[in-house]
Amino acid sequence: MSTPSSPASAPRTSKLAVIGAGAVGASVAYAAMLRGSAHTIALYDIATAKVDAEVLDLAHGSSLASPHTSPARIIGGDDISCVAGADVVVITAGAKQKPGQTRLDLAGTNVAILRSILPPLLEQAPEAVFVLVTNPADVLALAADRIAGLPAGRVMSSGTVLDTSRLRRRLAERLGVSSRSVHASIIGEHGDSEFALWSRASIGEVPLREWVDADGERALSEEDLARLEHEVAHAAYPVIEGKGATSLAIGVSAARIVEAILSDEHAVLPVSTPLDGHLGIDDVAMSVPSVVGRAGVIRQLHAPMDAAELRKLEASAEALRAVQRTLGL
Ligand code: LAC
Repeated sequence: MSTPSSPASAPRTSKLAVIGAGAVGASVAYAAMLRGSAHTIALYDIATAKVDAEVLDLAHGSSLASPHTSPARIIGGDDISCVAGADVVVITAGAKQKPGQTRLDLAGTNVAILRSILPPLLEQAPEAVFVLVTNPADVLALAADRIAGLPAGRVMSSGTVLDTSRLRRRLAERLGVSSRSVHASIIGEHGDSEFALWSRASIGEVPLREWVDADGERALSEEDLARLEHEVAHAAYPVIEGKGATSLAIGVSAARIVEAILSDEHAVLPVSTPLDGHLGIDDVAMSVPSVVGRAGVIRQLHAPMDAAELRKLEASAEALRAVQRTLGL
């Protein structure tokens, strides 16, 4: 991920619509308000009392939010017309993981919800870029891409942007550097089969595998890297156990993606879109480093991978295909 965009660069007419006013949707809207990601933020849900309360609660703090931009206009409710004309639509509606469930376990329920809500959203915001956050985000991104029939790149999921943040934080802690100087990404499925692109990872200009401690010894062994990769891939589970769902980190991850879109930043982020045939894969949506701007995913980057990474990418694709086959996708 590049350094955060300047939210002030979001056009004054920019509008973000967040679908679903549960913990995740409210966190996306809150993070976007604090960061000044969009000029207007609309929160939509069919649960009238909940969405009205979340809109009020957000609006009450809006004048104190981002010091870098004018206060966001906060609107929303249970009338889908609040989504009208949105430039970006972030979809968070759906069932959430329960303790012991994997993200892929949610596919049937949440694809069914997507099929019902996407057509009316497309009517309200035909020019929008759609960002799926609901899990399993990769399966939903593929389903939404097929339902919407929009130009390539206009439908994505937040993919492994959050997982990459989790990885960079842990590497920064282990190596005593700023997480913003850690250039390492998680790619593949946003889920248990995700993996780190270790062969491309670096700290500043130093390849990660060549980073040494003060005593000149290699800082992270292959076993350390494998443990870190497993820890990151399973990082959501203790949060789900403790508070019922993850929400805050995915909220700020989604806001970061929204900024890259609205400011036409051309930022490289590991979002998930249907792969473009690279390495022979074109039947699943997965995260690879991608250039993100106003048109959505402008370009998927074909990062070189070593043999182990290529095997993991194919394993991730197969995990998603297995679920897609059960849904006729
Ligand atoms: C997580 C959810 C967003 O990884 O899948 O926290």
